[in-house]
Amino acid sequence: MRVTVYNCREFDEKELFERYGKELGIELVLCADAPDLHNICLAQGSECVDIITSRITRELMEAFHKNGVRYLTTRTIGYDHIDLDAAREFGIRVGNAPYGPNGVADYTVMLILMSIRKMKRIMERTNIQDYSLSGIQGRELKDLTVGVIGTGRIGKTVLRSLSGFGCKLIAYDLYEQEEVRQYAAYVPLEQLFAQADVITLHTPLTEENYHLINEKSIAGMKDGVTIINTARGALIDSQALIGAIESGKIGAAGLDVVENEFGLYYYDHKSDILDNRELAILRSFPNVTVSHHMAFYTDDCVETVVRDSLLGCKYFAEGKENPWEVA
Ligand code: NAI
Repeated sequence: MRVTVYNCREFDEKELFERYGKELGIELVLCADAPDLHNICLAQGSECVDIITSRITRELMEAFHKNGVRYLTTRTIGYDHIDLDAAREFGIRVGNAPYGPNGVADYTVMLILMSIRKMKRIMERTNIQDYSLSGIQGRELKDLTVGVIGTGRIGKTVLRSLSGFGCKLIAYDLYEQEEVRQYAAYVPLEQLFAQADVITLHTPLTEENYHLINEKSIAGMKDGVTIINTARGALIDSQALIGAIESGKIGAAGLDVVENEFGLYYYDHKSDILDNRELAILRSFPNVTVSHHMAFYTDDCVETVVRDSLLGCKYFAEGKENPWEVA
């Protein structure tokens, strides 16, 4: 069988693809770029295609279908970048590769600590030998209430890690889990907004929770609240976030994801003029830490996604039960 891999990174993925391709008996076509209508011909003769977070539109899905693709796997947990209706329309099955939750959970705890300890300001000062103290006094987690929205694999791991810090933990999810109650009390969403000093997001992006953090929900939060987002950018209305940071209502933010990050993240744009004003404004605030959707990026995760995305293709091709099929 043959798999065409898009966005294959030379420096960390290529060797793993070659190793696992050999181990699983899969012939590979490796392409460094995201799939588009020019390079889609590379998928010809491959029943399966392996992608990351580039947007897969209906147009691309139709082109994959015309080139004989029957299974699309994404080396990510989230799959909101894929037009699933189009996948169904063209008879293409879709799978993901859900690596362990620890990498993102650790990163979330780091962003929480960086935000409440004003680490961006501290690092910027240290770099220019400004060793003054005014304006960088932090807060301790034991004095704070942390609200976790979404208590699936990552949210639950964040709660378990935070339980060692002595903070009060509250949580909200559409489906409550017994296991979570040893760490946190489930509360209605409005109560979480009203009581939490730190709010961290761990839900997938759906039609229902698009702009979950908006002007109205922010108004119901504590003054000086810290917002952490390692889930998906569009869970937060960027304009509302910016307004609330400017007014001081939001005291700090740690954002591994932002709205409209497609085409930006994972490319070197240092000489380019970018058209994402929200990102530029957010980056400019001393109390906002922005990173480029990389909470997942650990040794363990990279190896797991390469291996499991290929395994998903193999299961699909052999007609076996595929634990990673999502649509
Ligand atoms: P999961 O599927 O295990 O958990 C998601 C939880 O969110 C579930 O418990 C679900 O019931 C809940 N949920 C869904 N819609 C909700 C809503 N409207 N309100 C409240 N709860 C809701 O997913 P997992 O593995 O914990 O991942 C969470 C998200 O993290 C992913 O969907 C992805 O968007 C993001 N992610 C980000 C990464 C990064 O590098 N920054 C890497 C991996 C995942």
